[in-house]
Amino acid sequence: MSKPLNIGMIGYGFMGRAHSNAYRQVNKFFDLEYQPVLKACCARKKEKIAQFAKNWGYESYETDWRELIARKDIQVIDIGSPNNTHKEIVLAAAEAGKMILCEKPLAMNVAEAEEMCRAVEKAGVPNMVWYNYRRVPAISLAKQIVDEGRIGRPFHYRATYLQDWTIATDVPQGGAALWRLDVDVAGSGVTGDLLAHSIDTAEWLNGPIARVTAATETFVKERVHADTGKVQPVGIDDACMFLAVFANGSMGTFESTRYARGRKNFNTFELNGEAGSVYFDLEDAQYLQYFKYADPKTNEKIESHLTGWQKIHVTNGEHPYMKHWWVPGCTIGYEHTFTNALADFLQGLESGKPAQPDFRSGLQTQKVCDAVLKSAKTGGWVEIA
Ligand SMILES: NC(=O)c1ccc[n+]([C@@H]2O[C@H](COP(=O)([O-])OP(=O)(O)OC[C@H]3O[C@@H](n4cnc5c(N)ncnc54)[C@H](O)[C@@H]3O)[C@@H](O)[C@H]2O)c1
Repeated sequence: MSKPLNIGMIGYGFMGRAHSNAYRQVNKFFDLEYQPVLKACCARKKEKIAQFAKNWGYESYETDWRELIARKDIQVIDIGSPNNTHKEIVLAAAEAGKMILCEKPLAMNVAEAEEMCRAVEKAGVPNMVWYNYRRVPAISLAKQIVDEGRIGRPFHYRATYLQDWTIATDVPQGGAALWRLDVDVAGSGVTGDLLAHSIDTAEWLNGPIARVTAATETFVKERVHADTGKVQPVGIDDACMFLAVFANGSMGTFESTRYARGRKNFNTFELNGEAGSVYFDLEDAQYLQYFKYADPKTNEKIESHLTGWQKIHVTNGEHPYMKHWWVPGCTIGYEHTFTNALADFLQGLESGKPAQPDFRSGLQTQKVCDAVLKSAKTGGWVEIA
């Protein structure tokens, strides 16, 4: 028996589209008790949100998120608006008893994230942060390989997240399209936008990060602000690199920039352990590379002349999520990671075992981001509480 679940989607941009697509697809591919209903969407510009509602099949729209939250017929508030809006919306939605799905980064900083965490936990409402890369089947397979003990004692974790779209000095900051370059709206630059993903994946695979030391750079120090038309200082980090020590004693390096000419969404990680390694590259997302040195159960070493990296095409029915999609050898794409995440959330409602990452997990990522930015400012190592 399907249970309708009325969605109120905030934002019609990149994530508004990605989430709406997931709501429309999820019951077609996953066998679920709950069935999302596209009840209402919301953004400030009436003609744009009306067009979005029509295109995606929402029954209605609002131009003020407060009105959306006040509606009795909405059960889930989904936040796909810029980072500086997350906290206020979450506090109001929790107060109104709504389930909340929030885009990453959860908040502008730790203080906000803590308040948001307290609010959802006090209200007892189901919550999740859209760290969708966990739901790339190859990344989920990496998690399975780690949990099966196939990496053994971990030594190194190496992550990069590189883009190249802000190199030109005449790219403005702020406004509807370029809020990511405005520190008052984004909270930070690549640290909160890109490294937050890398940190979420890293802690999921390799456990908590204990301390960090970082350096950031802002290559273009002033840009025209799209709202004021004036040249204003740029407050975000254009690039960030940090060293990390994990609680399990392994060492990490993280690098992110929007100035890596030729790199579009180059999100990679490698984990090296005593018994094996895994490597992933989002621009080759169907594959997980795995190096097996020893059998985790018997500890027996692979014969030396047979060792080598395996490039696993993660499309078999036995691979995470793939039995819900196509036949082996047929791939899924970026948009499916949101459908997979939504399916996990809905299954969590069914089973009573909440899907991860929830807000508390999002807060942990925020703590690492804040520690990175603090270290970049003050120098030296910063411990993560
Ligand atoms: N999970 C991911 O991989 C991923 C990818 C991109 C963005 N994000 C996150 O999603 C969020 C949105 O990013 P985006 O790329 O979709 O941005 P976007 O600029 O494409 O869309 C933002 C939307 O929010 C709306 N909006 C802005 N202020 C609003 C307000 N006060 N009330 C209602 N609507 C408002 C805008 O009209 C727009 O429709 C950000 O937090 C971002 O970090 C996550």
